[in-house]
Formats: sequence, C-alpha cells, structure tokens
Amino acid sequence: ILKRSKMIASFWSISVLLCLVNLGVSLIAEDPLRMGLKQMGFQGAIFVPGEIGYHKFRLGHTGTCKFAFPKLVARPRTSADVAFGVMLARSENISLSVRSGGHGYLCQHLKNNSLHLDLRRLNHMHLLTPDPEKNLPLRLNLGPGSTWGRVLKQFPISRYSMVHGQCTTVGVGGYLLGGGVNFVGTSSKLGSGSQNVMEYTMISATGDLLKVSENAIQTLHLNESVKDTLLEPKNDLFFALKGAGSSFGIVTNFLYQIYDEPETQPVLVPIFFRGPSNYQDSVNLRHDLGCDWCYWTLVIWNGPKRPLFFANDPPPDQKGIYTLDFTCQYDPHSSAQAKRCENVVQLAKARMSKIAEEEGEHLNQYYNTPSCDINGRPFYERYWHHHYETLLAQKQIWDPTNLLTHCHAVGSTDEDCCPTV
Ligand SMILES: *[C@@H]1O[C@H](CO)[C@@H](O)[C@H](O)[C@H]1NC(C)=O
Ligand SMILES: *[C@@H]1O[C@H](CO)[C@@H](O)[C@H](O)[C@H]1NC(C)=O
Ligand SMILES: *[C@@H]1O[C@H](CO)[C@@H](O)[C@H](O)[C@H]1NC(C)=O
Repeated sequence: ILKRSKMIASFWSISVLLCLVNLGVSLIAEDPLRMGLKQMGFQGAIFVPGEIGYHKFRLGHTGTCKFAFPKLVARPRTSADVAFGVMLARSENISLSVRSGGHGYLCQHLKNNSLHLDLRRLNHMHLLTPDPEKNLPLRLNLGPGSTWGRVLKQFPISRYSMVHGQCTTVGVGGYLLGGGVNFVGTSSKLGSGSQNVMEYTMISATGDLLKVSENAIQTLHLNESVKDTLLEPKNDLFFALKGAGSSFGIVTNFLYQIYDEPETQPVLVPIFFRGPSNYQDSVNLRHDLGCDWCYWTLVIWNGPKRPLFFANDPPPDQKGIYTLDFTCQYDPHSSAQAKRCENVVQLAKARMSKIAEEEGEHLNQYYNTPSCDINGRPFYERYWHHHYETLLAQKQIWDPTNLLTHCHAVGSTDEDCCPTV
C-alpha cells in the first residue's frame, strides 16, 4: 500500500509538472526567428536569449567572447540547415555570425544581434580509400565542426600524416579557411592545410549549395542533386577559399587529402633570446609593459612546399625562409595598461620590420593570428598582399551585399575592429 500510494503521488506530481510545462509553453510567445527557421525545415537545435542552450553555445572555447549577444543561436545538422540560416538572415535583414569547431581569441565569429550559426554539430569524418584508376589519393570528408584533437583521435599520427592544427582545440573549419599552418614541420613537408583541400562543399551568401574544386564549380539542389556545372580553368573562388575562406562561403565539408604514412616527428630547437634573464624578460613584458600574455612562434620553412599566402611566393629552390610570430594580449578595459602593451608591441614590430627589410624580406601576417595594427600597413596587405585584388573581385561576384563579413574580412574597411574579448 505504501508503495502504491507513493507511485500514485509521483504519478500526480509528474502530471502536474507536465501540465505546468504545457501551460508555460503556450503562454510564452514563440520567437519569430526560431519559428521562421523551423518552418523552413531546420533540423538542428535553436536557442533564444534566456535559454540554457543559448548561454552554453554562444560562448567561445573556455568561455571567451562574453560581450556579444546574438538574437538566436542555431546549431545546423546539415548543409541545408546552414542554407536556411543564410536565407533567413537575408530575408530578415539581420547580420550573420558563424563559428566552426575550435578556439578563437578575437571573437570575429560572434556578433551582437546576429543570427548565429554554431557548426559544431557538423563534425563528421569519413575516410575515402585511394582510387588509382581515377587518380584519387587517400582522403577524408571532414565537417568544419570538429577539432583537430578529435580528428587525430580517429586518424592517429602513428598511422596517417595530414596537415593539422597543433593544439588539439584548433577547429577544422577556421584552420582550413585561414590557410592552415602546422608550425612544427608538417607544413614544411606537405604544404599548408588549405593546399590539401581538394573540394569544398559550401553554402554561398545567397544560400546556394556549391561544390568548389580546382577546375569546376557545381551548383546543387539542397537534396544534393546537381543543378549545374561550371568549368573553371582558373578557379579564383577555389583560390579565395584557401586563404580567406570565411569571406566567401560557409563550408560544410572539406574533401581533404591525407597520407598513408606516420607523421614525421619534428625536432624542436628552442632558441633563447639573449638577455639578463629570459624568464625575467617575459615577466617584464607581461607586467611592467602592460601585456597580460605574450608568446613567440618561430617557424623555419625548409621543405619543398610553402604556404600559399606566405612569403610572397618565393622561388622553390629558395630555402630557409622563416616566420616569426609575436603575439601579445592585453585587457582592453584597462586603457592605460592596453596603451602600454600596444606601444611595446608596435616598437618591437617596427624593429623587426626594419631588420626584415634590410634582409630583403617584408613582414606578412598569418590570417589565423590576426591583429589590429592601425599604425602599420593595412590589414589586407599584411594578410594577402598582391592577391587582394583577386579576392576583392571574387567577393564582388559571390557576396556583393557583404553578408559574410567580420573584422578583417575581404571587403571590410575597418582597420581597428579587433573586438574585445
Ligand atoms: C553588444 O551589446 C552589448 C549590450 O548592448 C554591449 O555591452 C557589448 O559591448 C556589445 N558587444 C559588441 C561586441 O559589440
Ligand atoms: C537592412 O539593415 C541595415 C542596417 O541594419 C539598414 O541600413 C538597411 O536599410 C536595411 N535594409 C532593408 C532593405 O531593410
Ligand atoms: C532534388 O530537388 C530538386 C529541386 O527541388 C528536384 O527537382 C529533384 O527532383 C530532387 N531530386 C531528388 C533525387 O530528390
């Protein structure tokens, strides 16, 4: 009897609860944007402000980017879902922000009042075996929403080589769309990540599904049946996707060449900068000079393949090009500290520039480590130098209304846009 009465009690409490939940749902007006997406057939989850999922999926890796609030956060499960997001943003005339799978420090992927697409559910990875008859190498179909840590767990470096982000929290999408450099040697051997992408499946700024490869652009219906094939002997969209991809499309699949051999292990040679105490120097940089955090990355390109957008296309026999990345971050809310850090970095940069020019080089910047340098060369020259005209022409063709934009995107004009974290 005791048992039964308990069961009845719990039955009643569940019914009351369900009844309240039902009431609650019918009392709260459904968000019109969410309703719009659902009506189009959007399959993934959609969250609006106030919901737990909104706060969970809005924030970047390790909780960064706290100060930007999209109108809604949608988590596409298919290319068609992404297309619906683009179409709704267009028809409602609201901005679009997109993130792929990994970390990011500058928050270019998240905008206030935007329709925000979180691509982390698009994280498939499928191995395609080589087909010698068709001259097809070993490949992966990779979704943008994975991290490289996740990819390498399934396709370990003890068996396969591929160009990947070194840090396990680097995202597949952002990495491959911004060039994709492996800093510990794999890029010297196999080129940049983007050089190994054979085909992009993407949603364009008009919501069209495209497959883009070296010599062709295919338009497809959302059910993936082919609408049209354009043969492009010189495919500048393919080129643009390799080093400035986020300005041209939302990629939902990368057909990615990998290699059936273990990854060559790098030998890392630490280089100590002379000074009374290197440790003390870095402490000074952080505290006395106003920066919260600084780091150096030194890469020596001594292999046959160089990244597309680096080093101004040096002749292939030229060895020993190096890149040196010096990155500092500071608290933008403390303006005196920020100013001090910025000045120090500018000074260091001017000196390094001068030395580089004396050596017959000039400084270029890796797109995936962007920065605002309002006193230096314009951002488009730093990232893409003489390729920028090609990129602008492609932008005009594929995204004339500039839907796919963010700080330092192709076609943007704001130099000093690095957002506050
Ligand atoms: C977004 O809007 C909020 C509230 O209006 C504001 O505090 C914040 O600085 C804005 N963030 C960005 C990135 O513009
Ligand atoms: C779209 O929004 C922008 C800025 O939010 C505004 O300037 C523009 O007039 C709007 N266009 C239409 C067609 O409503
Ligand atoms: C795919 O969609 C198009 C356009 O809606 C339609 O004409 C075609 O028959 C569909 N194909 C398949 C295989 O469902």
